[in-house]
Amino acid sequence: MRTIVPALIVFLCALTFISCKDAMNQTKPSISKETFGNTGDGTKVFLWTLKNKNGITVKITNYGGIVTSILAPDRTGKMGDIVLGYDDVKSYIKNSPYFGSLIGRYGNRIAKGRFKLDGKEYKLATNNNGNHLHGGNVGYDKVVWNAEELRTGDGVGLRLKYLSKDGEEGFPGNLDVTVDYVLTDSDELKIDYAAVTDKATPVNLTHHSYFNLAGAKRDVLDHEVMINADKYMPVDATVIPTGVLAAVEGTPFDFREPRKIGERIGKVEGGYDNNFVLRDGAGLRLAAKVSEPESGRTLEVLTTEPGLQFYSGNFLDGTIKGKGGIIYSRHYGFCMETQHFPDSPNRPAFPSTILRPGEKYQHTCIYKFGVK
Ligand code: BGC
Repeated sequence: MRTIVPALIVFLCALTFISCKDAMNQTKPSISKETFGNTGDGTKVFLWTLKNKNGITVKITNYGGIVTSILAPDRTGKMGDIVLGYDDVKSYIKNSPYFGSLIGRYGNRIAKGRFKLDGKEYKLATNNNGNHLHGGNVGYDKVVWNAEELRTGDGVGLRLKYLSKDGEEGFPGNLDVTVDYVLTDSDELKIDYAAVTDKATPVNLTHHSYFNLAGAKRDVLDHEVMINADKYMPVDATVIPTGVLAAVEGTPFDFREPRKIGERIGKVEGGYDNNFVLRDGAGLRLAAKVSEPESGRTLEVLTTEPGLQFYSGNFLDGTIKGKGGIIYSRHYGFCMETQHFPDSPNRPAFPSTILRPGEKYQHTCIYKFGVK
């Protein structure tokens, strides 16, 4: 007995030490809310902070459903903010190239802002070189969403809802949109999109974070990208796909093996801003993987969608001062937007983007953070 008791004490102390050490590296998933400011008409908007058990922290506002910051560790465990954006809502309202926002009703371009549906011609806002881009003058990135906090089995999140009215930006039908952002304990930001309509309408929702895995310390040209696609869409001078699904083989668009963004970008007029035809048709699967050599940070993109727009921040031109006063020069961020193909309403050969009453639009996108 005399020897058993001290041994038991030593054993219990060791156990406590081990579990304390684990606890030091882990936090309880949490969600908190603060005021973020007012929109032009005085509507109050909020900023939610989601944190997972490993300390990954994502901030989301209900103005435009914008992800304003993502703190993720590098290979030494040092946290860095890996998305571009602003410190305050006023700057997002004033001038934002869709930093971190939700995009709809139609992400990407519709040629000349026109399409025919069931024999009727529709005219949309032409807000980009004579074409329709990202939902028009006031897309889903510029509206205030209703928000509800979520605590799911695998993480904490935010459910955002928006009723896009019949005729808004020229689109037919009332579209009831729900977007669930969930930060999981497996270090993923999971985005589930759903929508229903009362009239046939094109729908193509996406998310527009500009990632910079170096923590926005330099441009993204050194980042290595793999895209799970054998084909991509060449575009015309106004970034409308020509309709051809071209083989990536032998072109600067071949990312089937990881390549640095900057390696062949000089051979691509204007930089990368193209849709890739993802392999394996349907179901949730890996669309892309990006890694940044110095920090070791990695980003995996998974989706149920047929396409991925890879945009290398070509239009960032150094005129934007972002979070913490950082100047966002050309190629300072890259976007991986999971979606249907651009201009689908005018391209019968592309997978349809038309949602009809009684049907449900659904799309999942996962951004998974890691290190190597
Ligand atoms: C488009 C770019 C566009 C950018 C706007 C991207 O989704 O592909 O052409 O300039 O959004 O920030």
